[in-house]
Amino acid sequence: MNLPSIVEARKRTNEKPKFINYKFEKEYSNLGKNKKYVLKTYGCQMNEHDSENIRGLLNKMNYEETSDMEEADLIILNTCSIRENAHNKAFGMLGRIKHLKEELNKKDLIVALCGCMAQEEVTVSEIKEKYKFVDFVFGTHNLSELPKLISEAKESKKTLFSVYSIEGNVIEGIPFKRDYKHKAYVNIIYGCNKFCTYCIVPYTRGKERSRLKEEIIKEVEDLVKSGYQEVTLLGQNVNAYGTDLGLGYDLADLLIEVANTKIPRIRFVTSHPWNFTDRMLEVIKSYPNIMPYIHLPLQSGSDRILKLMGRRYTSEEYKRLFDKIKLIPNVTVTTDIIVGFPGETEEDFAETIKMVEYCKYDGAYTFIYSPRVGTPAAKLYEQDKTPIEVKEERLYRLNKLVNEYYLQSNLKMIGIVLVDGLSTKENELCGYTENNKLVNFPGDKELIGKIVKVKIEDAKSFSLDGVLVE
Ligand code: SAH
Ligand code: SF4
Ligand code: F3S
Repeated sequence: MNLPSIVEARKRTNEKPKFINYKFEKEYSNLGKNKKYVLKTYGCQMNEHDSENIRGLLNKMNYEETSDMEEADLIILNTCSIRENAHNKAFGMLGRIKHLKEELNKKDLIVALCGCMAQEEVTVSEIKEKYKFVDFVFGTHNLSELPKLISEAKESKKTLFSVYSIEGNVIEGIPFKRDYKHKAYVNIIYGCNKFCTYCIVPYTRGKERSRLKEEIIKEVEDLVKSGYQEVTLLGQNVNAYGTDLGLGYDLADLLIEVANTKIPRIRFVTSHPWNFTDRMLEVIKSYPNIMPYIHLPLQSGSDRILKLMGRRYTSEEYKRLFDKIKLIPNVTVTTDIIVGFPGETEEDFAETIKMVEYCKYDGAYTFIYSPRVGTPAAKLYEQDKTPIEVKEERLYRLNKLVNEYYLQSNLKMIGIVLVDGLSTKENELCGYTENNKLVNFPGDKELIGKIVKVKIEDAKSFSLDGVLVE
């Protein structure tokens, strides 16, 4: 039994992470024979990528995937704890599963919860109290123990908790079952050391740990050999890549080497404005296979709020960096913004609006501040007097503005699109342009996985409509 601890999760020492090579133990190969699993994933790309590992492990155990919970022998929820509604979604799903288990009398159904919520003390308490039917809970640091945990859970009547609040290691060699055959996520750095005061991630994901560049390059080279068209380099803050290794090798160096593998498209998320160097910008400009798309979270336009958030930049510094980024030809910039941070006044919010007017973002993810237990901002929230209606109204105004810029920036462009698959609209395909805009257009299934030219004809709130250009 290992339970999470927020006090332990907050610690940062100088200890170096261990680099561990995972080996699948053959004794687990038949655990999933003639059995099916459902895996539900919430949260960011990091979690989606972890789910590719979970699928890889389940595959090795001979489990078969299904989307039908009624026929599943194993249900795993890979959860996110970034905001209250992510929490609620996962617990809502657990409620449904409980019902299903009772209604269908599925005594042998194994239910597991993992991901960022598993790393939180509050989640564990809630499971102990209200969701006793959950068979096991495991965290972000021990995903590779899944086969062992399934086997133990089969024998145990009580919920098993196997969560480590450690700084974390770097585990190589966990199998993957990738979601796509033409585009892939590649982790480059795990964890986060920034401790923005509102954010739970540094507690749920441990400290910043970079993978060795040799491992990353080899992974990309293998993807190129298998015909992959695109890699997305992943990290909570990719710009910090290499800092912890102390080898004088940073994201700019890594981007050059990845670009030299000749993979047609390279993306990277997320960039923290604080660690962005001029050299990184030069590299992005110089290699045509590095996509001109930067996600640069702003969070707030008010210096007072930025300081309270612990973001380590001022609105002026952000603007200066933004201006430099805009010198990359054909670049698009998107952002994240939080409204209603504790104590945010109308004047503070007006600064955020001013910043959006200045940057005219190509897209923005906007959120109302959500208190996370154990973070410094949650204490400020206790004294926050701003009513939720005021925050909602600010969000509404912000979204209206963001949407206007999104629509303006999209018309009359020709997109170079990597075709991902069928669109939700009948007989249409979908894919992303070089600068990461989602496009739907009529076309043949044969084009999936290929790069094509599309003329944009219309812009909706979250996607564009276009036609193929011969
Ligand atoms: N590492 C990334 C962010 C990951 S979380 C970065 O720093 O850019 C994605 C976004 O969720 C954040 O950028 C922030 O806008 C939002 N977010 C994080 N914690 C939040 C909270 N407690 N309430 C509301 N939004 C939050
Ligand atoms: Fe959270 Fe800040 Fe780290 Fe991003 S940089 S994951 S917002 S603490
Ligand atoms: Fe959510 Fe964890 Fe990602 S909190 S946003 S799944 S790092």
